[in-house]
Amino acid sequence: MLLRGVFLAAGFSLLTSAQHVIDLSGDNWTVQNAQGNVSAPASLPSQVHLDLYAAGVIPDPYAGTNEIDLRWIAWSNWTYTSHPVKGLLNDASSSWLVFNGLDTFATVELCGQIVGTANNQFRQWQFDVSDALKSCKHDPVISINFGSAPVIANAIANETGQETWPAGVQGLFEFDNRWFIRKEQSDFGWDWGPAFSPTGPWQPAYLVQFKHNDGVYVLNTDIDIHREGQVNWLPPDQSNPWVVNASIDYLGALPKGASLTVEIKDSQNKTTIASGSLTNVTTAGSSISGITTVGANVPKLWWPTRMGDQNLYYITINVVDSSNKTLATITKRTGFRTIFLNQTNITDAQIALGIAPGANWHFEINGHEFYAKGSNFIPPDAFWPRVTGDRMRRLFDSIVKGNQNMLRVWASGAYLPDFIYDIADEAGVLLWSEFEFSDALYPVDQAFLDSVAAEVTYNVRRVNHHPSLALWAGGNELESLELLLVYEKAPEEYPRYVGEYEKLFISLIFPLVYDNSHSISYTPTSTGNGYTKVDFSLPVPMVERYENVTPGEYYGDSDYYNYISTEAFDISHYPVDRFANEFGFHSMPSLQTWQQAVTDEDLQFNSSVILHRNHHYPPGGLSTNTTLSAKGMAEMTIAVEQYYPVPSKSDPIANFSAWCLATQRFQADMYKSEIQFYRRGSGRPERQLGSLYWQLEDIWQAPTWAGIEYDGRWKVLHYVAKNIYEPVIVAPYWNSTTGQLNVTVTSDLWESVSGTVNMTWYDLSGKPLEKNAGIPSSVAFEVGPLNITDILTTNIESIADIKDAVLVLSLSATGRLPNSNTITQFSHENFFTPVFTNEAKLVDPGLKLSYNNSTGKFTVEATKGVSLYTWLDYPSGLVGHFDENSFVLVPGQPKEVGFTAQEGSWSDAVVKNVTVQSIWDQAERN
Ligand SMILES: *[C@@H]1O[C@H](CO)[C@@H](O)[C@H](O)[C@H]1NC(C)=O
Ligand SMILES: *[C@@H]1O[C@H](CO)[C@@H](O)[C@H](O)[C@H]1NC(C)=O
Ligand SMILES: *[C@@H]1O[C@H](CO)[C@@H](O)[C@H](O)[C@H]1NC(C)=O
Ligand SMILES: *[C@@H]1O[C@H](CO)[C@@H](O)[C@H](O)[C@H]1NC(C)=O
Ligand SMILES: *[C@@H]1O[C@H](CO)[C@@H](O)[C@H](O)[C@H]1NC(C)=O
Ligand SMILES: *[C@@H]1O[C@H](CO)[C@@H](O)[C@H](O)[C@H]1NC(C)=O
Ligand SMILES: *[C@@H]1O[C@H](CO)[C@@H](O)[C@H](O)[C@H]1NC(C)=O
Repeated sequence: MLLRGVFLAAGFSLLTSAQHVIDLSGDNWTVQNAQGNVSAPASLPSQVHLDLYAAGVIPDPYAGTNEIDLRWIAWSNWTYTSHPVKGLLNDASSSWLVFNGLDTFATVELCGQIVGTANNQFRQWQFDVSDALKSCKHDPVISINFGSAPVIANAIANETGQETWPAGVQGLFEFDNRWFIRKEQSDFGWDWGPAFSPTGPWQPAYLVQFKHNDGVYVLNTDIDIHREGQVNWLPPDQSNPWVVNASIDYLGALPKGASLTVEIKDSQNKTTIASGSLTNVTTAGSSISGITTVGANVPKLWWPTRMGDQNLYYITINVVDSSNKTLATITKRTGFRTIFLNQTNITDAQIALGIAPGANWHFEINGHEFYAKGSNFIPPDAFWPRVTGDRMRRLFDSIVKGNQNMLRVWASGAYLPDFIYDIADEAGVLLWSEFEFSDALYPVDQAFLDSVAAEVTYNVRRVNHHPSLALWAGGNELESLELLLVYEKAPEEYPRYVGEYEKLFISLIFPLVYDNSHSISYTPTSTGNGYTKVDFSLPVPMVERYENVTPGEYYGDSDYYNYISTEAFDISHYPVDRFANEFGFHSMPSLQTWQQAVTDEDLQFNSSVILHRNHHYPPGGLSTNTTLSAKGMAEMTIAVEQYYPVPSKSDPIANFSAWCLATQRFQADMYKSEIQFYRRGSGRPERQLGSLYWQLEDIWQAPTWAGIEYDGRWKVLHYVAKNIYEPVIVAPYWNSTTGQLNVTVTSDLWESVSGTVNMTWYDLSGKPLEKNAGIPSSVAFEVGPLNITDILTTNIESIADIKDAVLVLSLSATGRLPNSNTITQFSHENFFTPVFTNEAKLVDPGLKLSYNNSTGKFTVEATKGVSLYTWLDYPSGLVGHFDENSFVLVPGQPKEVGFTAQEGSWSDAVVKNVTVQSIWDQAERN
């Protein structure tokens, strides 16, 4: 919907000026392969797989093993041809084709003449077609030949003198040589997704004509709102006025004396907070820029979710000529906030507070440090043109409901379209954004650097006005993985590859970010130890710390995976650092999701179809051998067998479904254990201020690290993450060697909060343990801002019969959310079992489920014993979520749970098919 809004705004501005714009979007296209034996009607924007699928030429690319069976599409060239374009001016002074994106290697012809070529998916392209049009006898036809990206990547790799890297450094998933081309890197395969290498005109396109030499067509707009004097790597002074710097990239010719006017209104268009001419107007190349200032306290600040309101403003810029006639108008919705990644050294004052030395690594919103809670965003679909605003709105609704305030938009999908940033602006979800480089080192020849420079400049300018934009990172796992691999495999080459890394990610990209934004911090890589110095007079203007570290000090952010499931809950293995930006373990999606893509006969844990769809571990090429996939499948099986009753249902589909759920339970338990550990670090010497797990959502139906399945269904993980990301939590920390159990309250509120934690030991039939096993049944606590407080230390080794028991922790507290005047009640539930459920003598909880038509809520009740991992499930045919799931129920304490339908409708038939089960039901019980 917002996407449409943007188009309309553009269309509107164009009517007022001298240019004529034809939108080439729609279904007036055909697509054909190079051999000429496959063709279909097509659309723009689109990609070949989508058009062939819509025309019935190919089956659903997501079904079964079609990822492999449809590889022929990626090996071929494809040509998109328009119908004759009508409605052109016959007296135009100049004409242009403008493509907002071409994926990727395109040769564009108009009237049979080549008018331009493209080789970078992430750039906008403009081709002058004035001469080609003049030679046209009839209404012109546009054709775009897309070269096969895998063929071209291989050919570039094969060029003489081409860059090479030591064996084992470049992350190879399926198609090879992705690092030579500027195309979504995961299009060539990743460990959570398919390798379709889609191609096509994936973004809107326009034919723009100018009547006289005085029109301008706006290509891109950079709005940079920052505090006066702000620079990217220093904390802004919150008492300074705001500077609004607007810079417009245009096509056409600007008359002498052109200038800019501005109007900034609140989101209801009621109050105007700034208007008039921009000052300091400059023109350079085909951009015009100017500034205005807004009083320090005039606009209401934009805050992330649950830290305040998401105040938004419309800013309208007019490009005007010397007599104030409007030549172009552009409106963007924006917000006033500062967001800063603090990487400065720990101060003496911080050390005096108990913080370990080293450097900070945390975000500050409007000058306030906060705890970042969230996950990593991957491309929500292998085919971007079918990602809709409605789908993303549902996803962001789940993110906010899940108590997440930040996503890391991982570095090898695509730069997000504006409509997703718009949704994040409204939802209050910060987007740590990255340039598209991941798990490989990249070439540094001039042509490659030039291509990257254009890509970076375009995207930094395009999205800079969004208040949700939180950070720019150069790429993913470049220092922590790639340079380390070079060091291990070819130490003598290490200086050379570090030099190349710095050339691309620091000397090139950092100044480009700084040139176009004073409001956003930059870090060259997702995981690292931060920098020691920024100095633009140096050839490498940011000096990275790398491994120059001192034991006992903490510096940067961590990335941690461990597939040895015996260590999953041993907190001594978890990284102690300032921020956790990636961690996780994979699980199976639900039966309902599998059934969208796989036929029932293939729904066995290790069927060949499922092995093919599991890409952890990736085949490392185009081989269809599934040995490495089997290893990843085994990791899930081993983890389940290690900790839970082993699913063993006689019905094969029920057994498969039970296994899927079991893998999700392990996954969620492990993430919860890590998240509560990282959050506790906020009050410990590491002063840990962020946890973003891998990964938010799925790109297709497959075993992955996701918490939300492809169609939006929540896995156990998303419910459990929602619980453990509550503002005030209580959590057990157990040392299995010493038997010591600590219970700690953690708060990420900005003020002290006080309350009570009830702690009750029950045996598994639901009877309280005698004298509560020696611990108090209730403890009052007060916890400081962004801090922790220990409320219990006990040793459970000495307590007899504690094996078949559960400690139920229930917190209630009163306090205030940041920037709120009202008192809020906070609550949190957690539990601890001294042994895992495969060793405990589980009791049939006798679960009962009922539905109240008038309240629209379910009541779940355990009637005979404690219900652990209570799981409500809903049938296929709709998407939504329960208020709460995967919880403990003690007999006599029924729970009411509502359901929110996001897509599809809630009906009596759905209600009848909602089920409840617990860990007791995981095994076959007769
Ligand atoms: C596309 O086709 C529609 C009719 O289907 C027509 O009205 C429109 O003018 C065409 N657009 C172009 C750019 O040719
Ligand atoms: C395929 O595309 C590439 C790159 O655009 C081009 O060099 C090649 O000639 C094309 N081949 C065919 C058969 O169209
Ligand atoms: C690379 O070049 C060699 C020698 O010119 C040739 O034999 C080989 O087929 C080429 N490979 C690719 C993928 O183009
Ligand atoms: C970085 O964060 C710490 C802790 O909030 C703060 O004391 C320090 O002033 C910050 N540094 C800068 C340069 O803002
Ligand atoms: C305010 O104006 C903007 C830009 O013209 C428009 O997109 C938006 O819908 C308007 N909002 C309201 C509430 O009228
Ligand atoms: C043009 O419009 C701006 C903003 O309304 C105004 O400040 C300025 O004085 C006008 N200039 C002329 C030449 O009319
Ligand atoms: C704008 O121009 C004035 C006058 O030349 C100058 O003092 C000021 O520094 C400029 N502001 C910016 C942000 O460039």
